[in-house]
Amino acid sequence: MAPVSMRSFAASNAHTSAVRDLIPGGAHTYAKGEDQYPEGMAPVIQRGAGCHVWDIDGNEYVEFGSGLRSNLLGHGFEPVVRAVRDALADGINFVRPHWLERTAAERLAGLIPSAEMVKFGLNGSDATTAAVRLARAYTGRDMVAVCQEQPFFSTDDWFIGTTPMSAGVPAAAKRLTTTFSYNDLASVGRLFDANPGQVAALILEAETVAAPAPGFFDGLRELCDRNGALLILDEMITGFRWHERGAQFVHNIAPDLCTFGKGLANGFPLSALAGRREIMRLGGFADDADRVFLLSQTTGGQPWALAAMLAVIDTCEREHIADRLHQTGADLRRAVEKVVAEAGLSDHFELRGRDCNLVFVARDGAGQPSQAFRTLVLQEFLEHGILAPSFVVSAAHDAVAIQRTADAVAGLMPVYRRALDDGIDRVLRGRPVRPAIRARG
Ligand SMILES: Cc1ncc(COP(=O)(O)O)c(C=O)c1O
Repeated sequence: MAPVSMRSFAASNAHTSAVRDLIPGGAHTYAKGEDQYPEGMAPVIQRGAGCHVWDIDGNEYVEFGSGLRSNLLGHGFEPVVRAVRDALADGINFVRPHWLERTAAERLAGLIPSAEMVKFGLNGSDATTAAVRLARAYTGRDMVAVCQEQPFFSTDDWFIGTTPMSAGVPAAAKRLTTTFSYNDLASVGRLFDANPGQVAALILEAETVAAPAPGFFDGLRELCDRNGALLILDEMITGFRWHERGAQFVHNIAPDLCTFGKGLANGFPLSALAGRREIMRLGGFADDADRVFLLSQTTGGQPWALAAMLAVIDTCEREHIADRLHQTGADLRRAVEKVVAEAGLSDHFELRGRDCNLVFVARDGAGQPSQAFRTLVLQEFLEHGILAPSFVVSAAHDAVAIQRTADAVAGLMPVYRRALDDGIDRVLRGRPVRPAIRARG
């Protein structure tokens, strides 16, 4: 029999039971769902501060990957909260644009190398879907190609139709999206050969767990140019995390269009589409081409959201936040890998990705990534006050948080060893977690 939890999750479990028949999926974001956490151990959050959160049972945690990687600076980061609060007092929505629209667009355009024009939206999917529509209009083509190793680009049909959770997406829409592989220019060549003159754009992130191979982005640029397709770089995660000027600056990438969200306003709902003027202008006053309906929303460009972004950019520049995230992540990696190596489990618990954006992989006895072992990791972390679906740090993670995490990993190691030796069922308390985006149940 697996031991019972030392922490109480009674209030969280009551909440979880109550919302099952109220909110489809039990949460308004699938990636936050109870199925992503060990059974009976899915904390419901009361509040956060910095890198800490408290659940409604009063348990405290060091949290990683906050706000699905949007809390770049940590919860309740004062300069951002203050900027939002000050802006709120002067009204949030008017019949004409607020003056901050210009300041915010100039600031982003001044920062991001490929941004000649900028348009703001509310969430990441707004921006990527706008990029796809713009690319279709500009090229007069219908197909788009997404990088198949990268997990998410949009809540809209053109992307969701490629996932296992594609119910409700028309077959005709699904046929318009194809895929290619990261770091695999041959796969890009094949997609253009298979769909000559039909592909409007390729969309990808600059880097997830693997770094770009030398020449990959130059080759991609060349293939897109040769085949008349646009290159869309999704900087939703990489944006201010890799560098305040984006991963495009770090890896010297020249996209036609690029998209930002998540950390852009430290988790407040704001996204941005940016790119070449020749393309972006189609969303404006174009007399020589059909106009594109580009990101026009009742609640778009609100001053408090733009004020949040300006405060984020000020902070990132002043405090070199991206450098700090890399440093903190490197410290975390070193501390965790040391503990894991000492336990002789490096083949089973592995950290991957860039230091500012670390994830962990839990492997079973055969060395295969395992949902059951991932669940065991989450279970033991929760027990030790670590809420970590990933090891993605914010600027609020400090040496104490890293030490606590390393201690939790040290606590995990003997349990992990026992699971390998005696069987996972001896130590896992409930059902394993499942992929957030799946076809059934
Ligand atoms: C790389 C990437 N692009 C786009 C999106 C969509 O952003 P949002 O959830 O704000 O619509 C996500 C969300 O996880 C993402 O990770």
